[in-house]
Amino acid sequence: MRILGIETSCDETSAAIVEETGDAAKPWAIRSNIVASQVPIHREWGGVVPELASRQHIRDICGVVEAALDDARTSWADVGAIAVTQGPGLVGSLLVGVSFAKAAAAAANLPLVAVHHLAGHIESLVLHNGEMPLPAVVLVVSGGHTSLYLVERHGHYAPLGRTRDDAAGEAYDKVAKLLGLGYPGGPVVDRLATEGNDRAVALPTTRLTHADRNAPALKGDLDFSFSGLKTAVLRHVRAHERSLSGQEVADICASFQRVVVTVLIDRLFDAARRHQAKSVGIAGGVSANSRLRAEFIQRGERREVSTFLPSLSLSTDNAAMIAAAGLRKLRAGITSPLDVNADAGLVL
Ligand code: KG4
Ligand code: ZN
Repeated sequence: MRILGIETSCDETSAAIVEETGDAAKPWAIRSNIVASQVPIHREWGGVVPELASRQHIRDICGVVEAALDDARTSWADVGAIAVTQGPGLVGSLLVGVSFAKAAAAAANLPLVAVHHLAGHIESLVLHNGEMPLPAVVLVVSGGHTSLYLVERHGHYAPLGRTRDDAAGEAYDKVAKLLGLGYPGGPVVDRLATEGNDRAVALPTTRLTHADRNAPALKGDLDFSFSGLKTAVLRHVRAHERSLSGQEVADICASFQRVVVTVLIDRLFDAARRHQAKSVGIAGGVSANSRLRAEFIQRGERREVSTFLPSLSLSTDNAAMIAAAGLRKLRAGITSPLDVNADAGLVL
C-alpha cells in the first residue's frame, strides 16, 4: 500500500508518498518527500512567526501535495490512506494540514490517520534504517522538543523525560541570535564550534533530581533544562562589552555545544541502561549536529548497543516520517474520524 503523508506543524509544508515493502525488517520505502521550507520568510524576524507560517502553508499545500504525487509517479487511485500531523505544533499551521487531509480523505474516500509529530520523528529512524531491536530508547531533539521515549512494542512510545524549559534546538537558535549569527542557529553554531576551543568558556550543566509538578508520574531525573545554559552564554557575552573576535565567538559555540551534547548523550545512555535497551536512537532537527552524531556512535560502540540516526533530510521536519508513523497505526487498526481536529498540545 502507498500512503500520502502531510506535515504542516511548524514552518515546513511537506507531503510524501511512502510505500510498504513487504519486508518486516525494513517495512517502508520513500517514493517522494517534498518539503517547502519557510526559513527565508522567518529568517528576517529571527524565528518562526505563527501567523506568517499558517498563511504560507495555505499558499503551498496544494502544490506540495501535487508535487509529491508526481514525484512518486502516483495517482490518487494508487493512494490507500492519508496520514497527517495532528499535533503538537502551531495550531494555525496544523489546521492547514489537518483540513487538507480531511477534505482529501472525504473526497477520495480514503482512511485518515492522525499522527503525533514526535511519533513521526521516532519512526524516521525505522524508515531510514529498518526496525530497531526492542526495547529501544529514543531521544527526539528539535527546535520545539527534547524528549526521551521508551519503545517496548512497535507503535507504543512511553515518555521517560523531557525538557522543563527550552528545547535544545531552541537554545541553539537563541545562542546564535545573541551572537548575531542568524536563524536557524543550529547549523552555524555547529560549524563554528569546529573552529573553537570547547573548554574556553566555563558553562553550567543542569541535572534535575526532582519530579516535575506538571508531570508528577515521571521521576524527573531524566528531564532536561537548557535555559540556565542559555542565560550563562548571555552573561558571558554581556561581560565582554567590546565586540567579540571571530575566535571568541567560535570558542563560545564550541563550549556551548560541548555542554549540550554531553547532557543529551549522558541522559540518553542513562535511560538506555536503566531500561536495558537493545538499541538507542536520536531523531529531530538537532540530530543533524556533527558532534552529537559522532559522540552518539562512539558511545554506542563502547556500550555495545546499536545506534540509530536518520538521514540528514529525514532529521528535520518532513512528511515521509508522518507517512511511516501513519502506516504503523493503520496496520495496528487505528484510523481517525473525519471530525478529528488539530491539537497544538497533543500528548504522546
Ligand atoms: O525538527 P526540526 O526541523 O523542527 C522542529 O520540530 O523544531 O528542528 C529544527 C531545529 C532548529 O532549532 C535548528 O537550529 C536545529 O534543529 N538544528 C541543529 C542543527 N541543524 C538543525 N542544531 C544543532 N546542530 C545542527 N547541525
Ligand atoms: Zn519536528
